[in-house]
Amino acid sequence: MEVIETIDALRERLRGEPSVACVPTMGNIHEGHLSLVRIARQHAPLVVTTIFVNPLQFGANDDFDSYPRTFAEDCEKLAREGNAIVFHPDETQMYPEAQVFTVEPPPVANKLEGRFRPGHFRGVATVVLKLFNMVQPHYAVFGKKDYQQISIVRHMVEQLALPVKIIPAETVRSEDGLALSSRNRYLSTAERAEAPRLQRVLQRVKDQVEAGERLFEAIEFAADAELARHGWHVDYVVVRSRRTLMQPAAHERELVVLGAAKLGNTRLIDNLEIMAPG
Ligand code: PAJ
Repeated sequence: MEVIETIDALRERLRGEPSVACVPTMGNIHEGHLSLVRIARQHAPLVVTTIFVNPLQFGANDDFDSYPRTFAEDCEKLAREGNAIVFHPDETQMYPEAQVFTVEPPPVANKLEGRFRPGHFRGVATVVLKLFNMVQPHYAVFGKKDYQQISIVRHMVEQLALPVKIIPAETVRSEDGLALSSRNRYLSTAERAEAPRLQRVLQRVKDQVEAGERLFEAIEFAADAELARHGWHVDYVVVRSRRTLMQPAAHERELVVLGAAKLGNTRLIDNLEIMAPG
């Protein structure tokens, strides 16, 4: 497997490649990321995984400095998965000067995750556009674990006519249902035992809506209360339209329940798609 650190070397290596699939990551590679690499390989023979912890998408109180950086192990895991190239730029490659041109996402980027992480999706959209310009992939795989992220990336690709096809990947979970995340390593033993409740609570909301319940506020409130009772600090548990991530229209069927809550100092997010009965 090749590791490439500069934009010039990447362009040189990829020139003339007929089909490239890209998997953007911030490293600390786990099974979730590896599942994206597997899906990427089904679409193109040459997979470029990018590893860059993007300062632009972290807020002042976020975990940029402590974000796990495990490059050597990441490369071993990716090589075993048949990933061809790791693009690992440093900050002087990515942001040789302050990034003053940025991608401004639409107002929905200030809701849900954006409400609790101001500027986060501007940082994500900007770095993803830059990575696309560097790798020029035909396909790029993103996880549904970050549901609002993939939604915003898809919308950006459509509105800016970017020549890349976005492939969604299902969320990979551990056996007890907890969605894999680099941030799970911050959980204490007791918190790790409690953490799967987030997914169970979302599953209950999904079951209720799929059984015909349309009073979303009541079930959202009950879900919130259950998490709070078990020591969580809930940012949101909401049922939204998959298409707009806004409040669903009266008879809308393709929904998603999204949740974000903190256990101690660790903030976890998760979601489940819902198909409401017609
Ligand atoms: P990161 O958190 O490293 O995630 C990289 C990709 O892996 C994202 O598409 C994310 O949705 C996916 N992913 C994470 N956990 C997953 C799981 N349990 N199952 C399936 N997919 C999972 O998301 C980012 O990095 C950054 O915002 C990035 C897009 C790289 C821009 O900096």
